[in-house]
Amino acid sequence: MAAKVTGEFPPRPGSVRARTIRPIVTGASRGFGRAIAVALHGAGAHVVGVARDGARLAGLRAQLGDGFTPVTADAADPVTAGHLIDTHEPRILVLNAGASPLPRPLHQHTWETFSRSWGVDVQHAFHWTREALLRPLAPGSVVVAMSSGAAVQGSPLSGGYAGAKATIRFLTSYAADESERAGLGVRFTAVLPQLTPATELGAAAVAGYAARAGMDVASYLKDRGPALTAEQAGTAITGLVTDSAQDQRAYLLTAAGLRSLG
Ligand SMILES: NC(=O)c1ccc[n+]([C@@H]2O[C@H](COP(=O)([O-])OP(=O)(O)OC[C@H]3O[C@@H](n4cnc5c(N)ncnc54)[C@H](OP(=O)(O)O)[C@@H]3O)[C@@H](O)[C@H]2O)c1
Repeated sequence: MAAKVTGEFPPRPGSVRARTIRPIVTGASRGFGRAIAVALHGAGAHVVGVARDGARLAGLRAQLGDGFTPVTADAADPVTAGHLIDTHEPRILVLNAGASPLPRPLHQHTWETFSRSWGVDVQHAFHWTREALLRPLAPGSVVVAMSSGAAVQGSPLSGGYAGAKATIRFLTSYAADESERAGLGVRFTAVLPQLTPATELGAAAVAGYAARAGMDVASYLKDRGPALTAEQAGTAITGLVTDSAQDQRAYLLTAAGLRSLG
């Protein structure tokens, strides 16, 4: 039986363990995913980062060296999920890739723009989660899926985004049930980050909500408390996958850190 991640992560940099643990992070080319890849690498893991923008991934490879394997691919493609899980046998999956919603009110969406987050975010979470259960990942493995605070609060300028992110939370909880029923020992957790202007996706959403409120971005943000940074997200996700005691099915993520949603 494969060894558990617990107690073995972070591994000693350069050790055999560090070379074999190979977390996969989707959407690693920028934003939260890039910061999560950097934090996991900093904790001693060899990280596999997936995104479509090969130039940005190459930049991250230049920064992190051979402790980072860039994979230029569509994370929502089922072949990508199956192929990379078979190739790297990851003990950690961070399902972070997500499409930027068009920031418009409901009636200015078409069905195609409304459902974009379903075709990318939900489809990607579905394929990777399914592959994690089917293979299955080794006991002690962890799958973290990026949902959103919008899954609880709604997101009226983002079309189907909030519903898509709520579905990712449900899907992750269903996978946790299946893991328990089959005795797989694989932990599945959804993380719901608070809206932040620190990433391209978040900055576009904040600009949209500020404009709708007739405010400039700085005034809009003033009363919202400290904004979550990408680095804080990287640290929090690395802590979550490292600590097997953090075994709740969903966590809210703010600048203050992770808070269990049960
Ligand atoms: N920022 C926020 O305020 C916020 C709040 C709650 C939840 N989230 C969630 O957090 C996650 C990361 O968002 P972010 O804010 O860091 O956004 P971001 O800066 O726009 O980054 C999104 C990442 O997803 C990748 N991506 C998109 N479609 C992809 C596809 N089909 N295949 C592979 N990679 C794909 C992008 O890479 P390529 O374009 O190179 O493919 C990029 O690396 C998303 O799931 C988002 O919904 C963000």
